[in-house]
Amino acid sequence: MEAMISVENLIVDFENITACKNVSFQVFPGEIFGLIGPNGAGKTTTLKVLATLLKPTYGIINIGGFDLEKQTIQIRKIIGFMPDFSPVYEEMKVWEFLELYASAYGIEKNKRNKTIDSGLHRVNLVEKKDAFIGELSRGMKQRLVLAKTLLPEPQILFLDEPASGLDPLARKELSEILKNLGNEGKTIIISSHILTELADFCTAAGIMEKGRMIKWGKLENLSDIPADTVCVEFCTSGKSTNLTNILNNYPSLLKFEKETDQLWRIYIKGNDSVIADFVKFLVENNVPIIEIRKVKEDIQTIFFKTGAKDVS
Ligand SMILES: Nc1ncnc2c1ncn2[C@@H]1O[C@H](COP(=O)(O)OP(=O)(O)OP(=O)(O)O)[C@@H](O)[C@H]1O
Ligand SMILES: [Mg+2]
Repeated sequence: MEAMISVENLIVDFENITACKNVSFQVFPGEIFGLIGPNGAGKTTTLKVLATLLKPTYGIINIGGFDLEKQTIQIRKIIGFMPDFSPVYEEMKVWEFLELYASAYGIEKNKRNKTIDSGLHRVNLVEKKDAFIGELSRGMKQRLVLAKTLLPEPQILFLDEPASGLDPLARKELSEILKNLGNEGKTIIISSHILTELADFCTAAGIMEKGRMIKWGKLENLSDIPADTVCVEFCTSGKSTNLTNILNNYPSLLKFEKETDQLWRIYIKGNDSVIADFVKFLVENNVPIIEIRKVKEDIQTIFFKTGAKDVS
């Protein structure tokens, strides 16, 4: 599949620091790509370059089939950028704010109302249409800025820390909205510190530290644990040499752990029928099963395994 966003050897030099040091990664159509990293890692700088707001020192960058250096205008037509801090006009009403931007985006007058209503609907702010922006909570303001970003229907979204400063409920609401945007087929890069939340809706991720992209890819490829892994915990009488032998030779076995003499754990990989066969095998051998669960390494575990630090 052709990448929707391709970044090759991005370098961004500021006066005293190189904020991006040969950053390379790709994002594929429909992916929600989490850009993860501690403060100063280079996330905002990378997003600003992609949003065509900052000229890189070097880098071959292609977005939606367009070259960033030569086809900036075409790229601007297909992207939306939500900065980490966007000022809103407190004394304006919600719909006035969106109307202002709809006209700035060149949306025809007879389509504006419909576009604004659908934007408000998507971010769950319909009932605040006539409220003054100053009266909105922080989470609502964030959603309003997102609605603004969505007005021209960008195919690609760059969202810089959209969940920062939000309480858990507001973050959950935002994460639902982002999931829906992903389901609509938009390609999204979202930077964040909040790893657990990203895990909820990201399909791919890139881990940055000190200006470098340490690791990137689809979540299942970033993990050391293969997809379709199941962990089965069971009891043994402690004198089951025979069982040890059988289990060690069991097809599709990944790992075998003895927590204690009595509590054993086995990781197997396979489809539902492989799992069902294994459970049947244990039951037929009178082995009491305690738990069967699908194993998925979350983004937090992946992140810490890279050795990167300092992210909550
Ligand atoms: N305009 C600028 N001029 C000089 N240095 C800058 C500028 N913008 C960013 N930097 C530096 O570049 C590095 C990367 O900053 P960047 O804002 O990209 O990090 P970040 O990963 O977004 O961090 P945070 O999590 O704090 O938002 C930092 O050391 C920062 O001080
Ligand atoms: Mg930042």
